[in-house]
Amino acid sequence: MSSPEPKPGILDIQAYVGGGHEAPGANRVIVLSANETPLGPSPKAVSAYEALAGSLHRYPDGDSAELRAAIAERFGCDAARIVCGNGSDELISLLIRSYAGQGDEVLYSRHGFMMYPISARTVGATPVAAPEANYTVDVDAILSRVTPRTRIVFIANPNNPTGSYISTDEMCRLRAGLPDDVLLAIDAAYAEYVTRNDYTSGIELVEEFDNVVMTRTFSKIFGLAALRLGWAYCPPAVADVLNRVRGPFNVTAAAQAAGVAALADIAHTDRGLAHNDTWLPWLTEKLNGIGLTVHPSVGNFILVRFASAEAADKGYEALMAVGVIARQMGGYGLPECIRITVGLEDENQLVVQALKNHLAGS
Ligand SMILES: Cc1ncc(COP(=O)(O)O)c(C=O)c1O
Repeated sequence: MSSPEPKPGILDIQAYVGGGHEAPGANRVIVLSANETPLGPSPKAVSAYEALAGSLHRYPDGDSAELRAAIAERFGCDAARIVCGNGSDELISLLIRSYAGQGDEVLYSRHGFMMYPISARTVGATPVAAPEANYTVDVDAILSRVTPRTRIVFIANPNNPTGSYISTDEMCRLRAGLPDDVLLAIDAAYAEYVTRNDYTSGIELVEEFDNVVMTRTFSKIFGLAALRLGWAYCPPAVADVLNRVRGPFNVTAAAQAAGVAALADIAHTDRGLAHNDTWLPWLTEKLNGIGLTVHPSVGNFILVRFASAEAADKGYEALMAVGVIARQMGGYGLPECIRITVGLEDENQLVVQALKNHLAGS
């Protein structure tokens, strides 16, 4: 008996496993595994979402026109170059589907976001990982891996899970070193958290060059991960391509309405940023203080390194025992690390106390 066979390579894909949301047996579950905001969504976004309940029988606006206008206003960019997606995950996969195929290479950095190699494999392209320097994108290593088959270079800036970033100058140097027909895709999912003067999310690069595209998300500081909403800022030709390949109604009406309201609630994202600016350095300092290595992060999460993979597993379990769900990093080639999202004040305190007790053997 024969049966339908997927295309070559599909069964080699290790499916993406998202951050856990359950801690069996714990009285209180604290989810710090998926870099979601601990402050939740804007109440205005929730109201906009609820207001749609009576019109669920209507298709959404296939152009996300109001949402694109609101994004353009908030970020000072051109609505015509924005393409919205069902999370930035969808935009990453649409870019790969549109620009790479069988025999092509998709280049990324060793500890870059896992959806780049997964999406590359879905189209039969080969993911190529360039080594990093000190858990940070190494521009020279990336450039040295470019071949005539390279079609796209993905750089998460800041990167998940390392929390590191490269400066505007380094990003410009990377672009300048790429052939004009290679697309530089800057994944700026955590851009809203970065407060460094030498950082760019990539908007100006997209406006200047035909081979740079940037992706962003509403899943992090905007607190709308459940609704799946992302956007790409594109050169006109890339926007045209994405608009041809995307589904006609790829962004739900609920996501569009909540996104518009979330963009207007600047006080809410300001609170998210201020919260992170307080607790990211606090967590870093306290965990360093108990002998763990915390990689400097500019996102809303930290990568914590233990003495060994076994020690990291035990640290993860010690957190789970008090109901805190962190993220194990074996899938990223970092089994000696766990990643912890910045939580609410008492959640962060519990993380530090639990790891301190654990390391003290109590
Ligand atoms: C670097 C990076 N890019 C993209 C995404 C996907 O985000 P979205 O929820 O918009 O699909 C994530 C999610 O964790 C991420 O960390």
